[in-house]
Amino acid sequence: MSASQEDSILDLGISEKVAGIDWDAYATQYDLMAKFNPSYHENISLLRNSLPDWNIPSEGAICDLGAGTGNYIVALSKILPDAEYYHVDFDEAMNEIARDKYRKLGLDGVHFLEDYIQRVEFPDDKFDLIICVNALYAMSPQIAVLKKIHRWLKPSGRLFLIDYGRRTRMMDWGWYMLKSLIRDHGIAECARFFLNSVEVVRQNRQGSKHQLDGGYWLHTTNEFGDTLTKAGFIVDDLRLCYRDYCDLAVCSLPTNDPQSPEFPPELQE
Ligand SMILES: C[S@@+](CC[C@H](N)C(=O)[O-])C[C@H]1O[C@@H](n2cnc3c(N)ncnc32)[C@H](O)[C@@H]1O
Repeated sequence: MSASQEDSILDLGISEKVAGIDWDAYATQYDLMAKFNPSYHENISLLRNSLPDWNIPSEGAICDLGAGTGNYIVALSKILPDAEYYHVDFDEAMNEIARDKYRKLGLDGVHFLEDYIQRVEFPDDKFDLIICVNALYAMSPQIAVLKKIHRWLKPSGRLFLIDYGRRTRMMDWGWYMLKSLIRDHGIAECARFFLNSVEVVRQNRQGSKHQLDGGYWLHTTNEFGDTLTKAGFIVDDLRLCYRDYCDLAVCSLPTNDPQSPEFPPELQE
């Protein structure tokens, strides 16, 4: 496929986005949802706990795709304070909240790319770590986006993905938030949360509709893993998370070293 054909397919992915979640509207309440949703914190812990296994250089380059309000870069910066961070997200309001957060924490060097991933370009082999949490489902066509990510990753790099691939059951989430809030914060805080999270509910309902319309990618764990393999990644870890609504994958690139046990036998001389 020529570069211009690939570009037009990626542009198509952007135009499909219009009917999805309005991130500008969601932005003001996104961190309220994040603060009180225990499974959101579990996702961050999954990344934090895996990080030591990957030997990311202390001054490595790390990119967060669909970085939203910046909670993952904040978490990573506590472990790798000298890394170089790139925040990619098209949504101005989400980015403004992240910018403010980084400023307050003295994270002044974070590079912002306020654009659709479909339009963003980085040099090949740039990143030691790329993460993309609960955003790939909205980045269509996913296979073309994953191929870009593949190019941007250093041969020794890692890709950490969590992706929301199941139909949203609004009642199930409502009960979960209600029970968690009452248990961990009491009835008064719970009531305050529900009064202040009208936009969270509205936007999640909108997202759920867009899933039905085929605008957001729905996948099983196997489909998720197969898509990553098709895009050229080695899938080192693949499992469910986020109350089984999400798939988590850790990926690396196939090795070019013929001495490595992972080198494909069919390519051995
Ligand atoms: C559910 S939020 C996740 C934010 C963050 N990763 C987290 O887990 O807190 C999804 C984010 O992806 C961004 N996003 C969706 N589609 C995108 C695209 N095509 N290019 C860049 N960002 C995108 C949205 O603007 C939003 O901020």
